[in-house]
Amino acid sequence: MKNKIFLHEPTKLKNNYQLIKNELIKNNLVIGNNIGNFRNEIININKAKFCSLVSSGTAALHLSLFCNQLDENCEVLLPAISFIASLNAILYTKANPIFIDVDTNLNLNIQDLCDFLEKNTFQDKKNRCINKKTKKHIKCILLIHVFGNIVDYSKVLNISRKKNISIVEDAAESFGSYVKIKNKKFFSGSFGRFACFSFNGNKIISSAGGGAVLSNLKKDQSTIDHYSNQAKSNAITFQHNDIGFNYRLSNIHATIGFNQARSFRSILSKKKLIFENYNKYLDKNLFKTIKYDTGANYWLIVIKIFKEINTVKLTNYMNLKNIEIRPVWYPLHLQKFTNKYQKYNLKYASSVYKKYICLPSSTSLTESKIKFICNSLKDYF
Ligand SMILES: Cc1ncc(COP(=O)(O)O)c(C=O)c1O
Repeated sequence: MKNKIFLHEPTKLKNNYQLIKNELIKNNLVIGNNIGNFRNEIININKAKFCSLVSSGTAALHLSLFCNQLDENCEVLLPAISFIASLNAILYTKANPIFIDVDTNLNLNIQDLCDFLEKNTFQDKKNRCINKKTKKHIKCILLIHVFGNIVDYSKVLNISRKKNISIVEDAAESFGSYVKIKNKKFFSGSFGRFACFSFNGNKIISSAGGGAVLSNLKKDQSTIDHYSNQAKSNAITFQHNDIGFNYRLSNIHATIGFNQARSFRSILSKKKLIFENYNKYLDKNLFKTIKYDTGANYWLIVIKIFKEINTVKLTNYMNLKNIEIRPVWYPLHLQKFTNKYQKYNLKYASSVYKKYICLPSSTSLTESKIKFICNSLKDYF
C-alpha cells in the first residue's frame, strides 16, 4: 500500500478551515459561541442533562474522581484493561485502584465485580463500603466502556446502590453509544454521577484534543466548571476558595469539536459500514470481531485471534505493509508501577494482549483497503 493506513485518523471535514477562519477573524481564540454550541450538541446526541467542556478526557476523569473527594484512604474499582489514563486519573487523587477482570468483549466482568463486593467488603455504621482486607473505603467504580460498547450497567447500578458506591463512567470511547431496554435508549454517560468523554484525535469525534464531563445534577456541573477554572470564586478580585485546575477547553478547539459533532450521524454510518466490511473479508477460521451491541458506535474494530501469538511481531509485519495495527493495551495490573495494588481474579485480562488486536478504523477507510488489510492479516498466518 503506497499511502500508510493509520489506525485511526480524525474525520476530515471540508468546512473546518472556513469555520476556524471565522473564529480567528473575530479573535475568538479562547472564548466564543462555539463552546456553548459544542456543549449543546453533546447534550443532544447523548440525551444528557448537563455537560462541562474540559481540555482532555484525562482532565475529565481527574475532575470527576476529584469531585468524589478521594484520598489515600479510599479505593476505586476498575477493569484491568483500559488506556493508562483511566488508571492515572485515580492515582492523581492518591486513591488506590483495585483491578477486576474483563469479559470477552474486554469490558468489566460484572459477575466478578459483584462477587468481589459480596465476598470481600462490608458496610460500616455510616453505610460506607469497606474492604475487609485493607479496611479502606471503596468509594467509586470507574465504569469504562471500551471500543464503543457499553457495559451491561443494570447489575452495576444495583450493586453500587446496595454498597453505596458512586459511579464514574469512562465513556472516552463510547460517545453516542446506547443500549435499548424495553424500547427505550439509554446512552453511555447517563448512569454514573459523572461521565467522561475524550475528543482526542483518534476518537469518534475530535476537537483536536478535548473532553467533556456529563452529570445529572446542575450542582455537579457547577462544581466541575468551578474546579476546571482554578476554583475561582470571585472573578473581579481573583479570590479562589480551593486549589483548582486549568482544564478549560478553548473556543478554537470547541469549533472543531462542534463541526465534528454536527457530522456525528454520518460518521456513525461510516463506522457501521467499516464493521460490516471487516466481517465480509476477515478469515473466520483465524479471527472474529468482538461482539458489538446494536447501539454501539463501532469506534475501533477489535478482533480476537483464535490462538495466542506474539502480537508485536504481527504489528511489525503489518507496519511493513504500511498498515498500522496495535495489540489491545498491556494490562494495567501488569504495568511496572501497579504491583502493589489489589487484584481480583484476573484470569482473562492477563493474556488479552496476546489475543486481541485493534484494526484501522478511520472513516476514510475504503472497502478495498479493508480487503487489503484482511488479506495481509491472513498472509501472516
Ligand atoms: C478509555 C480511555 N480513557 C481515557 C482516555 C483519555 O482521553 P484523552 O486522551 O483525551 O486524555 C482515553 C483516550 O485517549 C481512553 O481511550
